[in-house]
Amino acid sequence: MSTATRLDHTTEAELPTTPGTERGTSASGVAVPGQAAPVRGEAYAVCRVDDVPLGEGRAFVAGGVQVAVFRLRDGSLHATQAACPHAGGPLADGQTDVDVLVCPLHLYAYRWSDGAATSGAAPIRVYPVHESGGEIVVEV
Ligand code: FES
Repeated sequence: MSTATRLDHTTEAELPTTPGTERGTSASGVAVPGQAAPVRGEAYAVCRVDDVPLGEGRAFVAGGVQVAVFRLRDGSLHATQAACPHAGGPLADGQTDVDVLVCPLHLYAYRWSDGAATSGAAPIRVYPVHESGGEIVVEV
């Protein structure tokens, strides 16, 4: 697991702001009951984009938080907590598709969009992630 570098130069204005793409908000930016509010934390460059092969995940420590970062085959990026809430499975080693991450230990599936388990089990935490200057940046 690699340790990330904090980006002091990243500002809120540089972050993706597409309406309706953040957890807990509708397309109009209004909070949605029952969903977690979007979390904006410190930004950390965890690795170069090419350090995460297409279709795979890798684990990092960003600001003392263990995160799993994924680059799907469509090029999209996702970041979640590193350990599965069920029994600590290594989520970075999970299987991915466009909608969900599947834990490698007991095959619980979690949605990228909000971290909810499709089985109704405890959700995982998802983090804002984007590419900047060839690096993957995660906010924790
Ligand atoms: S540890 Fe992830 S589903 Fe059991």
